[in-house]
Amino acid sequence: MINFQYYAPTKVVFGKGTEKQAGILAKEFGATRVLIHYGTGSVVKSGLLDAVKSSLDNEGLPYELFGGAKPNPRLSLVREGIALSRATGVDFVLAVGGGSVIDSAKAIALGIRNDFDVWDLFIGKETAAACAPVAVILTLSAAGSEMSNGTVITNEDGWYKRAYGSDLCRPKFSILNPELTYTVSPYQTSCGAVDIIMHTMERYFTTEPPMDITDAAAHAVIKTIMKNVMTVLYNPRDYKGRAEIMWTGSLSHNGLTGCGGIGDWSTHDIEHELGGIFDIAHGAGLSAIWGSWARYVYKTKPGRFAEFASGIFGIKKSNQELAALAGIEAMENFFEKIGMPVSVSGLGINMTDGQIDEMAAKATSNDTRTLGNFRKLHKEDIKSILKTAR
Ligand code: NZQ
Ligand code: ZN
Repeated sequence: MINFQYYAPTKVVFGKGTEKQAGILAKEFGATRVLIHYGTGSVVKSGLLDAVKSSLDNEGLPYELFGGAKPNPRLSLVREGIALSRATGVDFVLAVGGGSVIDSAKAIALGIRNDFDVWDLFIGKETAAACAPVAVILTLSAAGSEMSNGTVITNEDGWYKRAYGSDLCRPKFSILNPELTYTVSPYQTSCGAVDIIMHTMERYFTTEPPMDITDAAAHAVIKTIMKNVMTVLYNPRDYKGRAEIMWTGSLSHNGLTGCGGIGDWSTHDIEHELGGIFDIAHGAGLSAIWGSWARYVYKTKPGRFAEFASGIFGIKKSNQELAALAGIEAMENFFEKIGMPVSVSGLGINMTDGQIDEMAAKATSNDTRTLGNFRKLHKEDIKSILKTAR
């Protein structure tokens, strides 16, 4: 195990009706004028936006409404949000939605408090010195952005999807009411399940000797999602099922399942390239690539994949390689069972050789950096993984 820091400062307010506390909580964290940021309409349709407005009205808190964040949230909207916030004196950003809305809100909050162009953060040119406070009312269990330090934004100029991480933009509070996820479609529910599982798997596949407690937490996260996603696909209004998934989603990406190890993250990095140019749902992009990545790298440490197969699926084989391959296949079978693709063609996309080359070049900045830690991947490795994932 390696030394680690664990920092999860977000106040979590969990349960039925908790969205009514938004105004009180925003005041508690110093808001005087709030930007209510939301997506493409689900929170208008569900009535959640009206409930949030009432909660702020009750506390006498003025606000600006700012919708339109799309899946794979766009830089142009972030820039609009920064301009609006500066013009109106917004000092607090409240995200009402899923990961895309939260990430857009975090980028706006970073932009408000820094003088340079916000994209400079995402290309490593600048580091944030400050961030306006951000808070969340979560409507989709998936990205884990409600407790994470990350924001992922797509720049339409070149279709670069890039992440920036800073503890400054971890949400001050996150309101998690599982009832707000009843209306999430089966497809997005499954995408969310894959993403939550992947946030733990990216941390699980480490070459460091693992900690028992971290492994136990990781196994619990993955098994809880696998069990409860079946429940809610069958009955979308199952409160316990939605609650298990919601809380597990937050724990999967707040650092808990990575303590003592070094995360890999190459499946995420490759998905970001796919998402950047094909505008796909993040979770579906991850399931389309993961098996190809896993079969490419497992020989680095087959024992780790054998532990995964045993811990998640109870698979025991006569040797570690057989167990590793059986575990990878079992995970892919699960993805298919919940309607998720296990190839890029399953996303309805036929990648050309030119597109594969473009994505591998972008991911490695023209082969000047590698992806991943379980096995370091160069441009040619990424091309091979994408070709197998076709
Ligand atoms: O736009 P609206 O109307 O909100 O509709 C959304 C969207 O169409 C809909 N939706 C959300 N809540 C709903 C609902 N529909 C009905 N009822 C509800 N209660 O679902 C669709 C997808 O929403 P989106 O926010 O895009 O999904 P998700 O939460 O999966 O977020 C994906 C984004 O998060 C990034 C991904 O790359 C992707 O851009 N990630 C962010 C991370 C982070 N900040 O830490 C980590 C992740 O690994 C991930 O990369
Ligand atoms: Zn993810």
